[in-house]
Amino acid sequence: MSKVTTARLLAMKLDQQKIAMITAYDATFANVFEQAGAHAILIGDSLGMVLQGEDSTLKVTVEEMAYHTRCVAKGCTKALIVADLPFMSYSNTDQACTNAATLMRAGAHMVKLEGGDWLVETITQLTRQGVPVCGHLGLTPQSVHVFGGFKLQGRERAQAEKIKQDAKALQAAGIQLLVLECVPSPLAKEISELLSIPVIGIGAGPNTDGQVLVMQDALGLTTGYVPKFTKNFLAEHPSVKAAISAYVTDVAEGRFPGPEHSFN
Ligand code: KIV
Ligand code: NA
Repeated sequence: MSKVTTARLLAMKLDQQKIAMITAYDATFANVFEQAGAHAILIGDSLGMVLQGEDSTLKVTVEEMAYHTRCVAKGCTKALIVADLPFMSYSNTDQACTNAATLMRAGAHMVKLEGGDWLVETITQLTRQGVPVCGHLGLTPQSVHVFGGFKLQGRERAQAEKIKQDAKALQAAGIQLLVLECVPSPLAKEISELLSIPVIGIGAGPNTDGQVLVMQDALGLTTGYVPKFTKNFLAEHPSVKAAISAYVTDVAEGRFPGPEHSFN
């Protein structure tokens, strides 16, 4: 695999080749996932939950994100490295630029932030200043307390329409990738067709341009509640590398996610 760039991801969408993204938080896993064929590695603020044991992502700091981004960047030579801007680290444009600079200097190639049209000015400034941006709509975990839990979003027509309008506004502002989390499959399909940039789904059905999973979910390392949209790829494969290769191939060939992982 040659180096994955934003241009390459866009070409993959046009060629109808599915993009496989997975989270990692350290050099060893990031390197194995890259060898397994993952196109993009996300240093997700999910690390607040899967590494720190918290029940939400809200306590994660920019410094913690930068530390894990440095670790992942050491393990990667080819995958596109995307790092989350954590809770309240982009509440205005200047703050977003300062914190995005920290993550880019730590080795990220792109930053991800959660939210809709209120981010237009911030995204415009970040992209103008050389920071590629990934949007995140649907179930945005930093807003868990506003939602009143980790719940499917976009089920009602007005809510679905809002997500669609936000997706268009974010694209117009300059995002080069969009994560759609926990929305009904038909809505994710519609948005993927509507946008010219690649749309990466999680709990968003099979008809997006790619998929993302939290690595602990993909490896069956979940304790307690297991979300419907995840799959333990290690259950049927002898090694971590083989499991993630199977994830990449299953995404490429449309075998994952199946109807049992999706909301209709
Ligand atoms: O933090 C994370 O891991 C994420 C993915 C679930 C998209 O944002
Ligand atoms: Na995240």
